[in-house]
Amino acid sequence: MNELRLGLPDDWHVHLRQGPGLAAYAARTATSCGRMLVMPNTLPPVADGLAVDAYRAQIAAAAPSCQPLMTFKLLPGMGTAAVAGCLAAGCLAGKYYPAGATTNAADGVADPTSIHQELAYMEDNDIVLSIHGENPAAPALERETEFLPVVDRLIHAYPRLRIVLEHLSTASAVAAVLAWPERVAATITAHHLFFCIDDLLGGSLQPGLFCKPPLKSAADRRALVAAAVSGSPRFFFGSDSAPHPVSAKLSSAAPAGCYTAPVALPLLAEVFAAAGALSALEHFTSRAGANFYRLPPNRGELLLTRQAWQVPSEIDGCLPPAAGRQLAWQAVRL
Ligand code: DOR
Ligand code: ZN
Repeated sequence: MNELRLGLPDDWHVHLRQGPGLAAYAARTATSCGRMLVMPNTLPPVADGLAVDAYRAQIAAAAPSCQPLMTFKLLPGMGTAAVAGCLAAGCLAGKYYPAGATTNAADGVADPTSIHQELAYMEDNDIVLSIHGENPAAPALERETEFLPVVDRLIHAYPRLRIVLEHLSTASAVAAVLAWPERVAATITAHHLFFCIDDLLGGSLQPGLFCKPPLKSAADRRALVAAAVSGSPRFFFGSDSAPHPVSAKLSSAAPAGCYTAPVALPLLAEVFAAAGALSALEHFTSRAGANFYRLPPNRGELLLTRQAWQVPSEIDGCLPPAAGRQLAWQAVRL
C-alpha cells in the first residue's frame, strides 16, 4: 500500500508552551490533527478557569483549524473551587505530575493524598485524570514501572474515576493497563513506538530524542507496538510533542522533550507498516481516543503517502527527532 487515508487524527497529549513559539507549535500540530489536548505545564501553570480561557484563546487564534482541548494542572492545595472553575472553562482532564518528575513539575504532587479532595471532585464530575507516571525518586529507567503501584492505588481509591496513563514507555506499563478496568486507558507517542534507548545513546548522543519517560529497550518498544496495533480501545495516540529551543537542547543541561509534531504521523505510518498493521492506524490516531474522551470523530482526512523525505536538522527553532534521517511516509491534511 502506497497511500492511506485516515479520518483526521487527534493528538491526545501536546505541549504548546507560552510566548513566541506557541503560534508555530500549534500551527504545526494543526497540519496533521483536528484536535489537540493541551498540557498545562506552562510557567505559571494552567490551574484556574481564567488561565484556561486565556490559554485556549491564544491557541485558537494561532491555529484555527485544530481545536484546543484543555487540561489543568493539579496543584496540592488548589481546592475544589479552582477545579470547578477549570471544569466550567471546559477542561477535559486534570494533569497529575509527580513533583520533580519532568519539565516544570517542581510544583507537582509529592503525595497523592494531598490532592484527595480535588480527585474526589473530579471523580464526582466525571473528569479524566491524566497522569505522568514516573516516580522521580527511582532510578531513571525504572521510574515508570515503580510508579505503577501509585496508579493502582488511585484506581482503587476512586472507583469511578477515569484515568489516562500518559506516554507509556515499558512493557510493564502495557501489561498493567490491560489488567486494570476499562476506565483506565493510555497514550503512546510516536517516538516511543519508533525509537529505543540505543537510538538515543547507543552511538553519538541524540538530544532530540531525550524525553521523560526516557526511551527504553527494544523489547519494551515491541510491547508498545503490539499494544498500539492491537485495535484495543485502551491505547491511543498522544504525541507528547514537547518543543525546546535548539540552544537549550544543545546546552550542558538539555531539557527533556521531543518535538515530534512535524514527524509524528510519518513515524507512526512507518511503525504500523513494518508491523503489517496499517489498517489499524486509524483506530489508534483517530478513533480510540475520541471514544475514550466521548467525542465524535473529527471531520476531514489525513493522506499518508509512501514518499521518502529527509527530516531537516531544525524545525520551528527546535530539534526534531529523526533530524537528518530519511522517513518513508509523508502526511498531508486534506
Ligand atoms: O519529555 C518530556 N517533556 N516529558 C514531559 O513529561 C514534559 C515534557 C515537556 O514539557 O518538555
Ligand atoms: Zn507531556
